[in-house]
Amino acid sequence: MLVLGIESSCDETGVALYDTRDGLLADALHSQIALHEAYGGVVPELASRDHVRRVVPLVRQTLQQADRSLAQLDAVAYTAGPGLAGALLVGASVAESLALALGIPAVGVHHLEGHLLSPLLGDPPPTFPFVALLVSGGHSQFMAVRAVGQYQLLGETVDDAAGEAFDKTAQLLGLSYPGGPALSRLAETGNPDRFALPRPMLQSGDLNLSFSGLKTAVSLLVKAHPPEDYPDIAASFEAAVVDVLCHKAQQALAQTGMTQLVVAGGVGANQRLRAALTARLDERGASVAFPPLRLCTDNGAMIAYAGALHLQRQTRSGSPGGTFAIYPRWNLQEYARALE
Ligand code: KG4
Ligand code: ZN
Repeated sequence: MLVLGIESSCDETGVALYDTRDGLLADALHSQIALHEAYGGVVPELASRDHVRRVVPLVRQTLQQADRSLAQLDAVAYTAGPGLAGALLVGASVAESLALALGIPAVGVHHLEGHLLSPLLGDPPPTFPFVALLVSGGHSQFMAVRAVGQYQLLGETVDDAAGEAFDKTAQLLGLSYPGGPALSRLAETGNPDRFALPRPMLQSGDLNLSFSGLKTAVSLLVKAHPPEDYPDIAASFEAAVVDVLCHKAQQALAQTGMTQLVVAGGVGANQRLRAALTARLDERGASVAFPPLRLCTDNGAMIAYAGALHLQRQTRSGSPGGTFAIYPRWNLQEYARALE
């Protein structure tokens, strides 16, 4: 089964072709980072307009790259939510129109499910069950993943998402958007032990997370220290986030009795987090898997893959194309319940 996947929920247009026999055949991406940089964050209207410009050329490029034609497609998968409404509408309308014209099913995929399943595109892929730590710009949560479509929320952030905390802290340090990668580059030259920043909710006993207090602590440091100290502030901030995530990850594994952690979402690209999780879980006989770096951030491959898995296992049937709804605030737990 050959599935075209389209991701357009935020500031990346991603298109990919996944074949259930041969795997990922092609994967193309256009990032809008340069477009939004001057504004310090994503401008929804500009994002939608850029998706309109990029999506069809990317579909062509993906087909060409894989040496396939539209006529060979068996289904089209697209991100139906959560995300920016205007941006979601672009991918959804292109996908549903293609499906209608080609007489094939279209399936609206949950963006976070795409992230959760993306590690399975890695080599070697993790096996079910596992605890997924989803850390992106919009979400920070621990989920127990028992099978495709079986997701149980274990805990989540009560305020900022981890990526959002990186982005806002980076902004305080005068770094450009998106701040996560820039902050971790700055942190490489700093001393993570210089400032003792809080570890929010470390001892809360549950698997919830909180990052806004950490951001406030950084803002106080920034006011009190000169720019020469910013690398140390960045490193201390990063160390605090990594420490909390490692601690809670161990707790999530202990609570579920699972021995495998899978990290997904943009913050999963953070090298210090990767190294710390690998070392700490290894000490306790547990393992951690990361999707390939390019699949950690938003992409079309995870959408094509999630859509293909559902259609193949008949856990979702897809629409005949043409009519659709988008869900800007789609709850993964409710979605999973509806699949049961
Ligand atoms: O998953 P993603 O691409 O988009 C969302 O669905 O949100 O995640 C983007 C987030 C941004 O907040 C970005 O700053 C963060 O992931 N990020 C990082 C790194 N690379 C991306 N945060 C920390 N360290 C990184 N290396
Ligand atoms: Zn995402």
